[in-house]
Amino acid sequence: MAHRSPENPSLASRMAEHDARPGRSCPISYRYGTEALKRCAEIEADTLYIAGGLYGNPFALDALLDLVASDPGAQLVFNGDFNWFDIDPADFRRVNEAVLDHHATRGNVETELARPAGGAGCGCGYPDWVGDAEVERSNRIMERLRETAARYPDLTSRLGALPAYLAARIRGVRIGIVHGDGESLAGWGFSQEILATEDGRASARAAFAAAGVRIFASSHTCLPVLQRFDDAGGERAIVNNGAAGMPNFLGTRFGLATRISAHRSPRARAYGASVGGLYVDAVRIDYDVPAWEARFLANWPAGSDAHMSYYGRICNGPRYAVEQAMRPTSLVRRMNLTA
Ligand SMILES: [Fe+2]
Repeated sequence: MAHRSPENPSLASRMAEHDARPGRSCPISYRYGTEALKRCAEIEADTLYIAGGLYGNPFALDALLDLVASDPGAQLVFNGDFNWFDIDPADFRRVNEAVLDHHATRGNVETELARPAGGAGCGCGYPDWVGDAEVERSNRIMERLRETAARYPDLTSRLGALPAYLAARIRGVRIGIVHGDGESLAGWGFSQEILATEDGRASARAAFAAAGVRIFASSHTCLPVLQRFDDAGGERAIVNNGAAGMPNFLGTRFGLATRISAHRSPRARAYGASVGGLYVDAVRIDYDVPAWEARFLANWPAGSDAHMSYYGRICNGPRYAVEQAMRPTSLVRRMNLTA
């Protein structure tokens, strides 16, 4: 989750699945295989919001629920990692009760809370370009969150029963909804780093066919990307919303959700593309910034693991620009974007 860009993206394909250290490993139980999405039951919708990486931010949750409620007929899917900073018991309960009222998939955080794979740590499957100190802090955040989750065995058990992936259909266009990538709950194949490589895009093209989808919606890797493909396979896209509960671009302080719809969005979008006749947009989640900062600091003061890993991003955003998320820029349009 804490992010570092790879110094050499060509090395990025050495993924963490071969590494047994906690936080680096991608447990066998996380693998479902892309073909499994072909057999998946579908959510029928006209408008779908997909929000991964809420990370226990209750103010982003409020803003997201308002956003969806203001969009007629819209349905909401939480595609994992809705927990992370919510070690406060009231926040944990609030976040999970709200999420479980909607469509949802497990992320690695919920999976490690509900059905820990021995030695997986946070279950993030961090690749090489994320430093050891970051990974160790994530493992300790996970341990702290487990203490809170233990107070709510019923909720935690329901998290464990959530699916690892879902499918949806909007106006005949089939959409695969995953937390990581087509292969695995904690896969990084749909990260902006991997999609920047020719090998990564070739794997993505194969995943569309294997899953029988035109669009993949993902999260997990903490930075957003909307990668459109326009070739012999027709218009297709991978849309990763980055984080719903944290800033995604340098100098900004809003989260992002993915909106896929037959209708144009009534609300502010950061960027978007047309795919198979649908609007595929990154929409802003404008949460109460001062309230969230105060809540974060109350739970994770200076010197704590989450403060060391995330406070800079919470205040200033990551070193990533909106233009970097739009790929290729000729096929992804920038909308109104202000901090
Ligand atoms: Fe994740």
